[in-house]
Amino acid sequence: MQKSQNKDSYTKLSLIWDFLKGSRMFFLISILAALFVNGLEMISPQIIRATIDSVIGDKELELPLFAVSLVERAGGIKTLKSHLWLIAFTIVMLATGSAVFRYVNMYYNSRGAEHFAKTMRDRLFAHIQKLPFSWHMKNQTGDIIQRCTSDVDMIKNFISEQLTAVFRIFIMIALSLCFMFSMNIKLTAVALVFIPVILGYSWAFHAKIQERFTKCDENEGVLSAIAQENLTGIRVVRAFGKENFERERFEKQNQIYTNEWMKLCVVLSLFWGTGDLVSGLQIMLVVVLGSYLCVKGEMTAGEFIAFVSYNTMLVWPVRSLGRTISEMSKAGVSVERICYIMNSLPEQDKPDALTPDMRGDIDFDHVSFGYGSEKILSDVSFTVKAGTTFGILGSTGCGKSTLMHLMNRLYDLPEDGGRITIGGVDIRDMKGEWVRQHIGMVLQEPFLFSRTIAENVGIAKDPVTLTEIRQAAAIACVDESITDFTRGYDTLVGERGVTLSGGQKQRIAIARMLMQKTPIMVFDDSLSAVDAKTDAMIRGALKAELADTTVILIAHRVTTLMEADCIMVLDRGKAAEMGTHEELMERKGIYRKIYDIQMALAEEVEQNGA
Ligand SMILES: Nc1ncnc2c1ncn2[C@@H]1O[C@H](COP(=O)(O)OP(=O)(O)O)[C@@H](O)[C@H]1O
Ligand SMILES: [Mg+2]
Repeated sequence: MQKSQNKDSYTKLSLIWDFLKGSRMFFLISILAALFVNGLEMISPQIIRATIDSVIGDKELELPLFAVSLVERAGGIKTLKSHLWLIAFTIVMLATGSAVFRYVNMYYNSRGAEHFAKTMRDRLFAHIQKLPFSWHMKNQTGDIIQRCTSDVDMIKNFISEQLTAVFRIFIMIALSLCFMFSMNIKLTAVALVFIPVILGYSWAFHAKIQERFTKCDENEGVLSAIAQENLTGIRVVRAFGKENFERERFEKQNQIYTNEWMKLCVVLSLFWGTGDLVSGLQIMLVVVLGSYLCVKGEMTAGEFIAFVSYNTMLVWPVRSLGRTISEMSKAGVSVERICYIMNSLPEQDKPDALTPDMRGDIDFDHVSFGYGSEKILSDVSFTVKAGTTFGILGSTGCGKSTLMHLMNRLYDLPEDGGRITIGGVDIRDMKGEWVRQHIGMVLQEPFLFSRTIAENVGIAKDPVTLTEIRQAAAIACVDESITDFTRGYDTLVGERGVTLSGGQKQRIAIARMLMQKTPIMVFDDSLSAVDAKTDAMIRGALKAELADTTVILIAHRVTTLMEADCIMVLDRGKAAEMGTHEELMERKGIYRKIYDIQMALAEEVEQNGA
């Protein structure tokens, strides 16, 4: 994947911290509430211990001073003995308090997490909008979508389940240990020995889980990309009867993906199994040793029961810490995948980028370019005089669209690849957005949004009236076809315009561009899907409308561009011939050859049809 990274690029931590903006307060409240829950939970075992030892037994009451004075105020141990409900009531009150704080904890945690996920999705989408066209060409749509959905969810779940949990865990461990130490040092030492063991094996599994999860995530991306491509190209798949081939391709990748998850599950099962074994051993040791100490009289029965409670409160958090580590491994992978997007450089203009008048001459000056190492254009030079029509003729793949991508700054011309100037200003010195705002472009296979025809045509102008839309459509010779639809301009264009013919789509796209009223207009093979008669009609209408517009007309049909003020023949990335139709005809070069062939073909078709 691409190397270019932001100067102040995100690390995994700084990314999370930044995305937490706006939800930090929610998490803080949630964490505070969690601390209260823990504090309250820690009190119950002490009440049980005191009850067993001093209310049921005869040991002197060992509680903090404020608790002792509370008991005194209630009437001392004697009253407690005859009113056991007082103890039950205290425990219920503690449980209620704990429940309230737990609610606050969960509520603010969810709020924080949802807000966090929303911020993350918004920021990702906004950033992707700004990334250069070349980035989009390099990265598969399905994979990008997966990063914005699955990966975002993975991180959200980690934050919502683990962020406050981590704080709770540490507090639980610290408090449990305090109480345990206060009751029996020897037994605490035994319980403690296991903590490094549990943490140790969690850490050891961490790397393995991370490695496995990366594989799962990558393969999910590949699977999404396959599905996305298939759905986008479903018509081609059907037309060529490739359903089985596509199904097999999907199934194969799905199998790989499933296998990767199975491997991850094996690692996770081993991880949790080992955890059960280790913590089981720890609890067994504490119980056995505790009973022994009780029998020897070094511990009271109440202390023993309270100790075992605290031990459970210790073991679970330590094990959860293991879980946190394993979840962290998974979330870490997702964060990295999102970092990749956020750290990809958005399209950047020079600091003092210009916004000059775009009605000047367009000059391609020794332009050479290749997408990779292979040269697509070599040393192409030509000038389009302002307000004239310039035709480019060439076979498919000779680099016509590439010329336009460069002029539109979808791809940037390298410093040593010559210059493209408009009105004498190098387009590299202009704002990218400015360039595209002033160059209208219609492509051979235009993309229409799944909205109404009116919305598609009027997309570039706001506010827009139906009259304006219809005017543009009339020039593009499509108004009649549209009004023939039962819903007229309110007809919904299916996903990628399934309900429209190629020619209709091209003409709607032409109307859409006309709405922009740009000083430069490019028709990149955009009359290829309409018949010769409509082609001529559209050109006639455009000529009248676009008197002072600079027009670049790209075609492989000579008749489409023979009326242009100047025509260039592009042959395998080189400007082979240039001149008016008459000049080129006289030269008897490639142009003449193409013309003769096409005319002969047209005649043949006419004769056969007649
Ligand atoms: N984004 C791209 N990445 C790599 N190669 C590309 C890209 N776009 C076009 N090409 C290649 O560049 C050459 C010229 O393409 P293009 O300019 O679209 O030709 P034309 O418009 O004349 O049919 C072709 O060989 C094509 O395969
Ligand atoms: Mg093309």
